Order: sequence, then structure tokens, then C-alpha cells
Amino acid sequence: MMDAFERFGLLINDRIVRTPVAIASMAGWVDAAYVLERADHIGAAFIGGYSIDRPTMDAAKAISEEGNRKEFLYDDPVGELRGQMALLEKSSVITGLNLRGSSPESFSALARSLGESIVYEIDAHCRQPAMVAAGCGEYYLKNPAHLVAVVRALKSEGVTVSVKIRAGIAGDDRLLARKLWQAGADILHIDLMDFGSTKLRQIRNSCPLMIIANNSINTFERMREMLSHGADIVSLARKSDIRTLSGLDAAITLYASEEGWYNSPKQLCRGGDIRALTFCCMPVKECPLIPTLSRIGLPKEEYIRLKLDSVKGTPLQDGNQTCFGSLAWCCKTSSPCMFRDMTLKQRGLSKKEYMRLKRELSDTIMSRVFHDVPSDESS
Ligand SMILES: Cc1cc2nc3c(=O)[nH]c(=O)nc-3n(C[C@H](O)[C@H](O)[C@H](O)COP(=O)(O)O)c2cc1C
Ligand code: SF4
Ligand code: SF4
Repeated sequence: MMDAFERFGLLINDRIVRTPVAIASMAGWVDAAYVLERADHIGAAFIGGYSIDRPTMDAAKAISEEGNRKEFLYDDPVGELRGQMALLEKSSVITGLNLRGSSPESFSALARSLGESIVYEIDAHCRQPAMVAAGCGEYYLKNPAHLVAVVRALKSEGVTVSVKIRAGIAGDDRLLARKLWQAGADILHIDLMDFGSTKLRQIRNSCPLMIIANNSINTFERMREMLSHGADIVSLARKSDIRTLSGLDAAITLYASEEGWYNSPKQLCRGGDIRALTFCCMPVKECPLIPTLSRIGLPKEEYIRLKLDSVKGTPLQDGNQTCFGSLAWCCKTSSPCMFRDMTLKQRGLSKKEYMRLKRELSDTIMSRVFHDVPSDESS
């Protein structure tokens, strides 16, 4: 497991996530047995959706009786979920419960009963009319104050919270992300629909939450596209078969072992998110750097100081033969440069180690950018 931590650096609920491949919930299908069959190829899974109070349990029954969709049906949600959790207890897969509830109290009461060992994922995604009418699923995206109240209720029980959303439904996904961050959410699980990586980058640039990208991420190419625009993990639902999951797991593990930074961003001028500031040079020319710094409220002088201070005493500090005298300003390894490569060689630094250090620098920059939790943005 330490290998996995060195490779991906991912923690959820204080546990190491073995690989950035997850299963997303499908009501009536994804339960503990479904996850256990695929456990060797995933790092996390969200089972459910499970309805947790009378209005949502009635809605699940109504949907199931219509005959087009399967639902998990039971009379005792706590008993059902305890049973599912017990089955997964010994698994290394980090598990979340995808939950449909109609009030903050329903969620906090469940958290009191089930405890902190599991992740609580609020289903703000479901668009089945009966669920929305019961006051959950997409209802929350159209009534963000209610969603924020649920996040706060869960956080007051000290549990880890994920919010599953569908992009493009809330008025402004960036603002929603910031509100969820402010409310204390830990993970944003985004069904990107057809919006793709541009939407993902916008959300990445708005909050420091762990991001799980979802929707048709069934190939390694698409996975890398999502990871290079800000996702920490990708999730699959409809194509969560063993062949697809094991292929993604193997490919990203190899990529991380060879490249050193499994979700490295594209450079800023190639459409990358703000983690890519780690690859940017001094703000001296006309390029996307200066407008980006002003958009995120990082004065030029502070950006320069931040990068130089962060690499002090590390192998990135020097670089006499590079453009700006330090590897702190140097580009991604995918951009060919003999001066950078010569410096790396002289210092005995592999490209993989260089990228690992650039990731650390990026983490420091992100901590500075998202240092202050936003004040009330409810307007
Ligand atoms: C049959 C079915 C049931 C689903 N049930 C849920 C659910 O209960 N909760 C939820 O958040 N998403 C649910 N989803 C959405 C999926 O988790 C996922 O966001 C969507 O299918 C897109 O991802 P994919 O392209 O990997 O399938 C469901 C999807 C399907 C196909
Ligand atoms: S500083 Fe360099 S890498 Fe960054 S946006 Fe400008 S040209 Fe691109
Ligand atoms: S030396 Fe090469 S890698 Fe470094 S900033 Fe200049 S062009 Fe980029």
C-alpha cells in the first residue's frame, strides 16, 4: 500500500487509495457484492444509491414499480447499509455510500448510526421525477442552500463527505463548488455529461476539493484527459466491467511509474488548470500566465517569491543553464528542452523525479491559492 501512496499520493477518509479508478453508483446494481467482484482493479467505490428516509424510500418503490429501473428496496435502511458495510469491511477498496435523503436530519441520523468508517456521498445527481419530487437528487442542484445544509449536517457528525453532481444543472458549477468547499465537503464527484474537460478545468480552478470525474471515461486516453485537467480520480458506472477497470488500473499504474506524476496538468498555455503554474516561467512575456495570476488574485511578486521560496534547498533550486536560473521556472518534460535536460543530467535527477518535485511545488502553490475558505457566497 505504501507503494500506491508514493505512486498516487491519494488518501480518502485517512486511508490510501490504491489506484485512481473508482466505481460510480447505479441504483439496484452496485452493492457490496458488485464491488467485491471488481475489488482487485479499483481504489474506491460508491455503492447505491440507497434511499434513507420515508419520502425517498417511497420514491424508490414508485420508480421500481414503473418497471424501467431497478432500485434497492428495503424497510430498514440502517440494517441494510450495516449489512453492506460488513461485507466490505476487510476489503482495501475505499467505500462510499451514495445516499438519497430528503432532509439534513435524515443524513445526520444515518451518520450517527453508521459511524465514520465509510464515506457519505450525497446523491445530488438523480433526475428521476419521483426522487426530485421527494426533495433529493437534482433537487439539490436547483436548491443549493438545501444541499449546503446537508453537507453541514454530515460534517457536524465528523464524517467524510462526497457530493455527486451532474454538471450544467446548477446555475454556476464553479460557484456551487466553492459553496460546497465552504460548507466542508471533502470530495466532488462530477458527472461531466457532454461538457468534458473545459468544465472540469473551471471547477478545478475554483476549489481545492478532491475531484472524481465521471461520464464515459472508459479508455486510458479519456482518463488521461480528465486527469490532466484537474481530476484526482475517475469513476465508471455503465462500463464498470472487470476488463475495462483492470485495463485502466494497469495503464495508469505504468504511466505513474514511468512519468512520476500521474495526473500532471497540461501547461497553462495548452489549456491546463492552475496546477500548471508549477511549469510556468517568470511573468515576463505576453502569455496566459499574467491574466491567470490576476484572475486568481496572486500578485506577480508573490508568485515569484512563492516559487523561489518553495524550491529552496530542493533539487529544483538551481539551474544556471536554464532560462531563469532555476528549475523552478522550467517546463514540463513533454516539452523538449536540452538546457533543462542537461541540468537534470548534471544533477543526477531523473525526469520522473523532476516531475515528482514539480508536483510538490504545485501542491504548495495550490495551498496558497486556496488558503482562505471563501466567505459567505450565498448571494
Ligand atoms: C442504471 C443506472 C443507475 C444509476 N443510479 C445512480 C444513483 O443511484 N446515484 C447516482 O449518483 N448516480 C447514479 N447513476 C449515474 C452513474 O453513477 C454515472 O454518473 C453515469 O452513469 C455516467 O457515468 P458512466 O458513463 O461511467 O456510466 C446511475 C446510472 C445508471 C446507468
Ligand atoms: S509562462 Fe510559459 S508555460 Fe506558462 S503560460 Fe506562459 S508560455 Fe505557457
Ligand atoms: S530552460 Fe527549457 S525548460 Fe527551462 S524554462 Fe527555458 S525553455 Fe523551459
